[in-house]
Amino acid sequence: MVQATPFLLLLFLALGAHGLAVKKCSLTGRWVNDLGSNMTITSVSANGAFAGSYHTAVSATSNEIKLSPLQGSMQKSPNQKGQPTFGFTVNWSFSDSITVFTGQCFVDEYGKEVLKTMWLLRSRVENIKNDWKATRVGTNVFTRLQSQE
Ligand code: BTN
Repeated sequence: MVQATPFLLLLFLALGAHGLAVKKCSLTGRWVNDLGSNMTITSVSANGAFAGSYHTAVSATSNEIKLSPLQGSMQKSPNQKGQPTFGFTVNWSFSDSITVFTGQCFVDEYGKEVLKTMWLLRSRVENIKNDWKATRVGTNVFTRLQSQE
């Protein structure tokens, strides 16, 4: 029993440290990506549905950029272990295009939340012959915007 005590103490500390390291990743809030685009996710409902707004820093068009709505869904299965996957659609208010993003919310080694995403941007083309050039693909990394209160 005396010999088991230090072992149990070590086990307890190791499990405790692990528990602290697994900080939950939350989508709610303001985010900025590697292009300088800003995104706000207002809230995530119990079933994982969320909504927000997106202000892109760049555009494939020459139109004036405007704030655009987004709608998404976060994985909420009962066996969700944190660092959830999600997807969302931005319906651009200033162009005929749609972008779908898919990604995962990670907590990095410094405890910072990072959204690693891939996207498909579908632009409208005039006819089916131009379909081949209508879709762009890329990646974006989002980090949380710190509030300046
Ligand atoms: C358009 O050009 O028709 C709408 C704007 C598209 C902006 C794209 S979506 C993927 C990439 N990530 C961003 O933050 N902006 C660009």
